[in-house]
Amino acid sequence: MTHMTKKVALVVGGASGIGLAIATRLVAEGAIVYLTGRDAEAVANAAREAGQGTQGLVADAGVPEQLEHAIEAVRRAEGKIDALVFNAGISEFAPLENLSADQFDQHFSINVRGAVLALKSAVAIMPIGASVVLIGSVAGQAGVANFSTYAATKAALRSYVRSLTAELAPRGIRINMVSPGPTDTAMFASVPNEVRAAVVSSIPLGRMAQPSEVAAAAAFLLGPDASFIAGAELCVDGGAKQV
Ligand SMILES: NC(=O)c1ccc[n+]([C@@H]2O[C@H](COP(=O)([O-])OP(=O)(O)OC[C@H]3O[C@@H](n4cnc5c(N)ncnc54)[C@H](OP(=O)(O)O)[C@@H]3O)[C@@H](O)[C@H]2O)c1
Repeated sequence: MTHMTKKVALVVGGASGIGLAIATRLVAEGAIVYLTGRDAEAVANAAREAGQGTQGLVADAGVPEQLEHAIEAVRRAEGKIDALVFNAGISEFAPLENLSADQFDQHFSINVRGAVLALKSAVAIMPIGASVVLIGSVAGQAGVANFSTYAATKAALRSYVRSLTAELAPRGIRINMVSPGPTDTAMFASVPNEVRAAVVSSIPLGRMAQPSEVAAAAAFLLGPDASFIAGAELCVDGGAKQV
């Protein structure tokens, strides 16, 4: 697999779970990969795990200046970004009656503002043919009790993918979205077993996704095989929201 040879990729939120799987996949496809995360040790470990010279950058996806610094570091080192993935996201149990203003702001500042500002900074150094993938969620397509704010952030990303396709396609930049269903990562680890079993029973393929399966979809959309796909949402959900 060498679809991404000499392409420079930045995975925002690449130190664990789906983000790390995407970084690992892009390395395997030949890309020069940079990944970000908040914790220096976790970032260094993830960069080692992803392999082949992957560079780790410490940045909080919810803090605009830190995102800018990370993108500036890639510009100084490589002069361009060919592939941008925004994966960072939080998902908190937040029934409406308990939802605080801080909780609302945190969801939107990481999940949505982070993606939009990362893209705003990166676009300045994205050449013709560059590609962006935002990690959404099938939660953005349906009502999800107690996770309405999380679901709304992912629906907002879906809207940005459409509008920014109209804005960026004339510059030769494609933007798409990968929306996982339940995926076996730390984000899902805290979910009680009985809830997990109920979730799995609602998935036609009868199991959760592996992070590598979400990564494969992201790599496809970033790479040359998806050269005429723009503004799309690719669900990796075992059919859960499709039937
Ligand atoms: N797992 C699922 O079932 C599932 C389903 C649908 C969609 N998704 C989406 O997939 C993406 C990755 O999730 P994951 O399952 O791989 O979980 P994960 O391993 O917990 O990764 C979560 C990501 O969000 C970042 N993050 C978490 N809290 C943050 C905070 N307070 N401030 C800034 N960044 C923060 C983490 O960055 P640090 O490294 O700095 O902690 C990490 O990059 C998310 O966008 C999530 O919404 C997951």
